[in-house]
Amino acid sequence: MGETLNVIILDKEETSRNIIKNYLSCDEDISVIGEFFDFELGYDFAREKGKCLVFIDISQEQNETISLIKRLKENNKDAFIIVLSAKPSTETIIKVMRAGAKEFLNKPLIQSEFIETIKEIKSEFENAEPADSCKIISTFSNKGGIGKTSIAVNLAVELAQLSKEKVALIDLNLQLGDVATFLDMNPPFAMDYIANNINNLNEEDLLKAMSRYKNTSLYVIADPLNIDNSQDITAEQIKNIFAALKKTFSYIVIDIGTNIDSKTIAALDSSDLILLIAIVNLPAIRSTQRCMDLFNKLGYSSNKIKLVLNRYMENEDIKTSDIEEVVKQKVYWKIPNNYLTMMSAINKGVPVNEINAESNISVNYKDFASKVSDYLITRKFDKNYGKRELNI
Ligand SMILES: Nc1ncnc2c1ncn2[C@@H]1O[C@H](COP(=O)(O)OP(=O)(O)OP(=O)(O)O)[C@@H](O)[C@H]1O
Ligand SMILES: [Mg+2]
Repeated sequence: MGETLNVIILDKEETSRNIIKNYLSCDEDISVIGEFFDFELGYDFAREKGKCLVFIDISQEQNETISLIKRLKENNKDAFIIVLSAKPSTETIIKVMRAGAKEFLNKPLIQSEFIETIKEIKSEFENAEPADSCKIISTFSNKGGIGKTSIAVNLAVELAQLSKEKVALIDLNLQLGDVATFLDMNPPFAMDYIANNINNLNEEDLLKAMSRYKNTSLYVIADPLNIDNSQDITAEQIKNIFAALKKTFSYIVIDIGTNIDSKTIAALDSSDLILLIAIVNLPAIRSTQRCMDLFNKLGYSSNKIKLVLNRYMENEDIKTSDIEEVVKQKVYWKIPNNYLTMMSAINKGVPVNEINAESNISVNYKDFASKVSDYLITRKFDKNYGKRELNI
């Protein structure tokens, strides 16, 4: 017999509550400890129960219920939430997953699907991995000056703004990185200190050693102040830093250097999403092709790699379709060329949205953050429901 899984049901329909209880009844490790017609009462109950599985039906009063899910997740991080809905849509799925739900099931419930989901949840519950919600996104190109830092910085700022969750921004250009300059920060501690002390820092110490950007939920680890100190940083330490950050952060954005060394590979390996940055000119496209060869050799699935065209202008000589054909990868996102806003942002040490939130590049970064976070959420959903047609 495994660990007992305490279940709480919030559903306005008695029949539906009975169906769930009936489906769960054949598992002796599961105990239904509460069922509620009144969701606020159910919330008060579930909030205090620590590790538990909560079914919440959002078919009625959808928006109120989604905020309740968010509140519950904030006040009981250990609650596993399964959302049920008779009116599912892609937008709803994204909203509830973003609010903190673990799974989504359509109503009417199909017994086989329900049992399969519970089986997966149970194994996850028993292995309870608190860090599994963190996603690592890296910006990469083997060419310099292509926009890796601009993209990492502005995307991280927007992800923090959008999600309100903790986002870590890491400069892996260990010799002369630019992240701190792009955000006009003078971090008292940098990568060398954190790498050397990572085994002795608890979550709170680590957060204190990082530098918070203004009053936001973005925290930065900059490159070492002294170049000599960067040589001693090992790939092992980098991996340990990621493992530690995963416990506290929802997103880790890494600005990876152009050097292909063991630290770069460690960061690429750890990434859930690699933004492969290119600009529309022949040398850059050739380099991008070489990066794809490297990724193939490293055994990465093409799903993990997203091709991003930076400084994009309409009516480029080279067509997007030609690039896709050469690189053998669809273009995932295009960032417009806006030299003035970008340069002004870099020179002032602020993200582009602080220069002009209405500029094409600021709006583009906002949409980009939304696309990346939706992708990461739905990819998780896709993985669990691989066989189902989603059309997301
Ligand atoms: N969308 C854009 N439109 C116009 N200019 C841009 C855009 N994005 C970046 N740039 C410009 O490109 C230059 C290089 O950007 P950035 O420093 O981000 O590249 P990088 O790939 O990190 O370079 P390095 O390899 O030196 O680290 C900067 O001067 C920046 O202003
Ligand atoms: Mg850079």
